Order: sequence, then C-alpha cells, then structure tokens
Amino acid sequence: MLYSIIVSAGLENVAREELSERFGNTGHLKNLERKPQRLIFQYTGNPRELLSLRTAEHLFLILKQMPKMTRSRSSLAALSGSLTHFNFKEMSECCRQVGINIRKRTLFHVTSRLSGKRNFRRIDLQRVVEQALLKRGWHLNSGRSALDVWAEVHGNDGYISVRLSGNDMAQRPYKQAHIPASLKPTVAYSMVRLSRPHPTDVFLDAMCGAGTILLERALMGRYDYLIGGDVSMDALNATVANFGRKHRPRQFFQWDARKLPMQQDSVDKIVCNLPFGETIGNLPQLTNLYRYTLREFARVLKPRGRMVLLTSQRTTLDDELERLHFLDVRQRLTVDVRGKKAWIYLIRFA
Ligand SMILES: C[S@@+](CC[C@H](N)C(=O)[O-])C[C@H]1O[C@@H](n2cnc3c(N)ncnc32)[C@H](O)[C@@H]1O
Repeated sequence: MLYSIIVSAGLENVAREELSERFGNTGHLKNLERKPQRLIFQYTGNPRELLSLRTAEHLFLILKQMPKMTRSRSSLAALSGSLTHFNFKEMSECCRQVGINIRKRTLFHVTSRLSGKRNFRRIDLQRVVEQALLKRGWHLNSGRSALDVWAEVHGNDGYISVRLSGNDMAQRPYKQAHIPASLKPTVAYSMVRLSRPHPTDVFLDAMCGAGTILLERALMGRYDYLIGGDVSMDALNATVANFGRKHRPRQFFQWDARKLPMQQDSVDKIVCNLPFGETIGNLPQLTNLYRYTLREFARVLKPRGRMVLLTSQRTTLDDELERLHFLDVRQRLTVDVRGKKAWIYLIRFA
C-alpha cells in the first residue's frame, strides 16, 4: 500500500530519518520518496504503527497518484478518471486497522488542495473527484463518520488519498497547559532529533516556555538529566503542569538565560526556541538577549556538545554568531513556524 505523511516545510529530511530509523529494518518500508512537505512510501505493515510518527502532521493512504499533472483541464479529468479502478477491499482493511470502519453505504467528503498555475480551480478539482466517487455509489456527507478524501495537485503530482489520522496526530496528550508562543510538538521533536539524543545527555532548554522541547526529549529515550528554565513564572508553571509526575530526574528554574547559575562545561545538549521579535520588545533588547544568552550557552556547553536553536530573527542570530568565531554553524534549516519563516541552527564548537 502507498502512504504519505505531511510534515512541516523544511523538516522533510528529519521526517525521512525518523521513518527510516523506525521502520527501515522491519522489511515493511520501501521506495521512500521526498516531496515538499510530504514523504511518500510503500509500507506493508499495520498502518496503525505509522500513527506514532512524531514528525508527521497527517497520515494518508494514497488511492491514486498521477505523476504528470499539467495546467490543463484534461489532466484533471485523467486524475478523476483514475478513480474508476482502485482496490476498495484493501482500502477498507487499511481503514479498519486504524479504527475507521467503512460501512456498505460509503459516506465521504472531499478536501481539495491546489498549488501552482492551473487552468482549473480548486473547487473544480473537488467537484470532479466528488463526481467520480458518486459514480462508484458512494454518498456525499459532511458528518464525522464520513471518509475524508483528499484531492491534491502540487507541481507535477496529483494525489487522491484517504486521511487515516485524526486531527490530533500532531498534538500530544502531555500538552495541557499552554503559553502564547508555544512550539508545535512536531518542530520541537525535530529539533531534539537534530541534537542526536544520547542516554548520558544532560539536556538544557534555558527558555523552556511550556516545556515542549523538554518533554519531546523526555519521550525520546533515556537521558541523564533534564534542566529547564524561563524568566516567566507563568511559563514555568505550564512546564510543571505538562510534566506532571513523570520524567525524572529533572529540575526547573526561574532565571534569566543571560546569567545561568550553572557550571562551565556542564551540559551535553542545548535545544532552545529563542524568543522572536514581537514578544521581546525592540531590536536592541533582542540583540542584547541573543548576545548574552549565546555566550552563556557556549560557556555551559561541553566541548563536544551540540546546540540546536530556533529563531525567526536570522540576521540578529547570524550577527551574534559571527562575533563568537569559536562556534560553528553545522546546519541551518529553513522551516515554517505558524506561517512564519524561521531557521533551525545546529551549532557546535569549531
Ligand atoms: C518562544 S518561547 C519558548 C516556547 C517553548 N519552546 C514552548 O514550546 O512553549 C520563548 C520563552 O523565552 C522566555 N524568555 C524570554 N526572555 C528570557 C530570558 N532572558 N531568560 C529566560 N527566558 C526568557 C519567555 O518567557 C518564553 O517563555
């Protein structure tokens, strides 16, 4: 069966790594293909297992894939025409395995997405797919039990898929308390992955907000110690609430990250979502925050440690990094954080 997962823009390679690492040696995963914001792959195992992927926003079963979509309306007709043949039994079985039961009277609705210049509109795409499924005897219905069929055209590719994940695939049960600038767990997970977690890690998020990064690290496997801090007591209370009694040893501090009460060379990994402009005030204040925080990070990080930082203030971070020539940016990913361009930096000592 052919599946796809949707991931945040810029995190496709991290998602590919997760998928390969978790399912690559099961013998069930084949032909993994990377596209913008999605991975497409064949998988012969139980799709329920794919729902545990931590980089994925949605999981789909692809009913039809058309590799040569053009601008013209004729390619639209070809895409919907392809729906005359697909293996309904396989689809039903796959849906059943993730808890979606398809009755004899198949209810469905269509979600359509379109990018690039076309001689047809998104609604045209939606309508032709609806018509093709009505012709198969399916019934249009907007209720919760209806199958969510997605019709998409991006670049040269057209896809007709069934969504297997609920709206909560990218959400996490631990996230009960929130703060305004809280990070998406899928992005937090990806940042933690880039830090190359190790069982002996002393792991620090010095501006931890609601604790998303720390919790993703805690859930990723063994560690030696988790340390979180924030200048805001509200944020720390949210972290404490989200942790509950689980995940020890850990310690949280109210502090100013520009002056960490920690010893030199005491931390293996620092992963941190730096405050963005609007939340911190004006540019000089932000520059000051980045300057002194970076110095503190460099002081407490062990010589072979890793720092993974997220910011949407690229110029400010670049300027400050340039002053610290003993730090080396090993990787920089452009990502989308709530519709805004941001960058994840992987930094080590030069
Ligand atoms: C972008 S938010 C982090 C969100 C967090 N990753 C999450 O998912 O909830 C930035 C955090 O930095 C904190 N902060 C701002 N200035 C700080 C400082 N000087 N020292 C420590 N924390 C600071 C803010 O209170 C805020 O919680």
